[in-house]
Amino acid sequence: MYELPTEFIILGAGGHALVLKALANAAGMSVVGVSDPRLHVADVAQWQGLPVFSDDGIMEQQDSEKIGLLNGIGQLPRCKARKNIQLKFMIAGFYFPPCVHPSAWVCDDAKLGEGCQIMAGAIVQPGCEIGIGSIINTKASIDHDCIIGDHVHIAPGATLCGNITAGEGAFIASGAVVIQNINIGCDSILGAGATLVNDLKDRTCFIGVNNFK
Ligand SMILES: CC(C)(COP(=O)(O)OP(=O)(O)OC[C@H]1O[C@@H](n2cnc3c(N)ncnc32)[C@H](O)[C@@H]1OP(=O)(O)O)[C@@H](O)C(=O)NCCC(=O)NCCS
Repeated sequence: MYELPTEFIILGAGGHALVLKALANAAGMSVVGVSDPRLHVADVAQWQGLPVFSDDGIMEQQDSEKIGLLNGIGQLPRCKARKNIQLKFMIAGFYFPPCVHPSAWVCDDAKLGEGCQIMAGAIVQPGCEIGIGSIINTKASIDHDCIIGDHVHIAPGATLCGNITAGEGAFIASGAVVIQNINIGCDSILGAGATLVNDLKDRTCFIGVNNFK
């Protein structure tokens, strides 16, 4: 029977990687290395006590049946680097486990996509789906029946009330509030502190305290 990897390498060595490493430690996941092109080119041997690899080194030297990957690249608005690297390694056969910080509360009926990350203090209520590679960041709150697409970032402290859909690639910035029954389009951006009370179309950005028609 095929067994999932139990040891992991973190992709990226920036701020999100640091937080993800802390999640992995808290969740008892075994992290055995980090991959970051800048560190590798600079011949840096260790990051946070972990050996440094290159992406190519992982592709060529690591066994995808034994080593899984944690995507430590953060997701900023209009930036596809996180999505692209995850898809590249998934196509090559590498597994990205869903990660849940022990201090997050995730209802046991939640459907968690490959490589999604539920960070410390986040809440995911009943009936929710979290897509591939999506981040539910620190203290974000996702209420009942929310369908969060692939490669979405719900940034720290954002609040989604019930029955919301967020399309692929959407970015809901820190502290934003979305009222119930709203559709958020693909690759759309909701700015920090915004309050969304109407649907947001694909590839649009909204900042401010309402978007009344
Ligand atoms: C919405 C956002 C992406 C806009 O970024 P941007 O396109 O680079 O826009 P700019 O910073 O150039 O700002 C453009 C204008 O909008 C204003 N503005 C930007 N974000 C705003 C916000 N959230 N609320 C109100 N006004 C905002 C700026 O002050 C600026 O006004 P000005 O033209 O009068 O000077 C950005 O503000 C944001 O929310 N980023 C996400 C932050 C976050 O959640 N990070 C989490 C990381 S884990």
